[in-house]
Amino acid sequence: MRRDIPQPPGAGVVNGIRFGTDPLRFLETVQARFPDAAEVPIPGRPPLVIVTGPDLVHEALDWPEAFGRVPASGLGLPAENGLVQSEGDLWKQQRSVMLPAFVGQQVVDYGDTAGQQCRAVADELGHAADEGRTVDLHRQMTALTIRVASEILLGEDIGQERAAEFHGWMDAATEELAISPTGVLPDWMPTSSSAAYDEATTEMKRLSEEIIDRRRAAVADGGEPGSDMLSLLLAAEGAPDVEYEENQIRDEVITFLIAGHETTALSLTYTLAALSNHPEMRARVREEARAVIGDETPRYDHLEDLTYTKRVFRETLRLYPAAWAIFREATGEAPLGDYRVKDGSAMILPQYSIHRDGRYFDDPLTFDPSRWTRRSAGSADAYFPFGSGPHACIGRQFALAGATLSVAGLVRDLDIDVPADTLEGFQASITLRPDGSVPATVERAG
Ligand code: HEM
Repeated sequence: MRRDIPQPPGAGVVNGIRFGTDPLRFLETVQARFPDAAEVPIPGRPPLVIVTGPDLVHEALDWPEAFGRVPASGLGLPAENGLVQSEGDLWKQQRSVMLPAFVGQQVVDYGDTAGQQCRAVADELGHAADEGRTVDLHRQMTALTIRVASEILLGEDIGQERAAEFHGWMDAATEELAISPTGVLPDWMPTSSSAAYDEATTEMKRLSEEIIDRRRAAVADGGEPGSDMLSLLLAAEGAPDVEYEENQIRDEVITFLIAGHETTALSLTYTLAALSNHPEMRARVREEARAVIGDETPRYDHLEDLTYTKRVFRETLRLYPAAWAIFREATGEAPLGDYRVKDGSAMILPQYSIHRDGRYFDDPLTFDPSRWTRRSAGSADAYFPFGSGPHACIGRQFALAGATLSVAGLVRDLDIDVPADTLEGFQASITLRPDGSVPATVERAG
C-alpha cells in the first residue's frame, strides 16, 4: 500500500501563501523537516508537492509520462513549442534534430567564442575601471552569454545593442513570471499581462523572425549550410519523417535565445560575486588563469587545466543554482517511492534547498570550492544543477566550458567587486535572479 505524502502543519492556504511570499525560505523550512517529500494542500486545486529527497527527484525526472511539464498553452509565453516546453513525440523529434549542434566540435567552438567575447567584455570593463565607472555586472554577463549563444546556435552574433535590449526584455519577462502570493505556482496563469511583458514577447518574436529570414535568404543565395542549431532545424524542415508545429523554428530560436544565455549569465554573475566576497579564492583563480592561459585569449584548449576555476563554478551552481527548482505536474495519480502523488499535483523539485541540505553537504551554507576535491561519487545525486533524466540540460557542456573560460579570462585581468550582500537576496522567478541590478566596481589587476 502506498502512503499519502506527509503534510506540513498549518492550514494549506497559509502554507500556500508562505510559499508565494518567500518561496526560498519556505522550501528550506520544508527541506529541514521532510527528508523525502511534503504535500501542501491548496483549497480548490490539486496540492503542491515539494520533493526534498534526491532519489525521489531523480525518479520523478526519469518518468516524464507521469510527471509532465507544466502546460504552456494559453499562458502567453513567447514560445510554446520549443524544446523547454515540448513533450512526447514532438520533444523527441526536436531533441534528436538539434542534439548534434551541442556536442563535439560545437562545444570547442562555443568555448573559443566565449573566450573571445570575454576578452571584449574584459576590455570594456577595463575602460570602466580607467574611468572609475560602476557597471551592472548582470547586464554585462547577459551581453557576453547571449552573444556567444546567438553566434554558436544561430550563426550570427546579435551584437551589443540587441544584447542590451534583450536584458530589458528578460527583466520584464521574469517580473511577470515571478512567484507571487496569489498563486502557488509561478504566476504563469496571468489574467492580464503587463504592457512591458507584451512588448518583450513581441520583440523576441520579431528578432527571431529576422534571424530566421536572414538565414533562409543566405541559404537561398547558395550559402553553405552550417552545423549550428538553426541550420539543422532548417535542413530538417522538409524531411519526410519530421513534422513541425506552427512557428516551430521561431519557437526554438526564442527558446534557445533565452535558455542559452539566461542561466549562464546568472551563474557567471554569482561566481564573480562569490569571488568578490572571497579575495583569497579570487587570487587563486587568477594565479591558475595566468599559469594556464598566460596572455592569450582564453580558448577551449585551456579548459582541462583550469581545475580550480572549474571547482569554483561547480560550487556556485550548488549554493546559488540559477535553475533553483524544476517544475512538473502529475498527469494522473502516480507512485513516487512509497508515496502516492495525487492527480494534477503541482510538483516542485528544488535544487536550491536540496543543495543546501546538511544531510548531503557538509557545512552547506559555506561557499567552499574545495569540497569538490573530497566528495564521494555516491552523494552526487543531491547535486543536479542541470536537472536529470531525459529532459536534462542539452547545453550543459556549453555552459561549463564557456563559464569556466569566461571566469578565468575576466579574473585574470580584473578585480570585479560587488556589494557584500549581493548573494543574500534573490528573486525566485523561473530562474534565481538577483534582487535588482548588480552594481560592480572594477580595477585592473596588478
Ligand atoms: C549554468 C547554466 C545552465 C543551467 C544551470 C541550466 C539548467 C537546466 C536545467 C535544470 C534543465 C532541466 C529543466 C527541466 O527538466 O525542466 C535544463 C534544460 C534545458 N537547458 Fe539548460 N542550463 C544551463 C545552460 C544552458 C545552455 C547554455 C543552453 C543552450 C545552449 C541550455 C538549454 C537548455 C534546454 C533547451 C533545456 C531543455 C532540455 C529538454 O527538455 O530536452 N541550458 N537546463
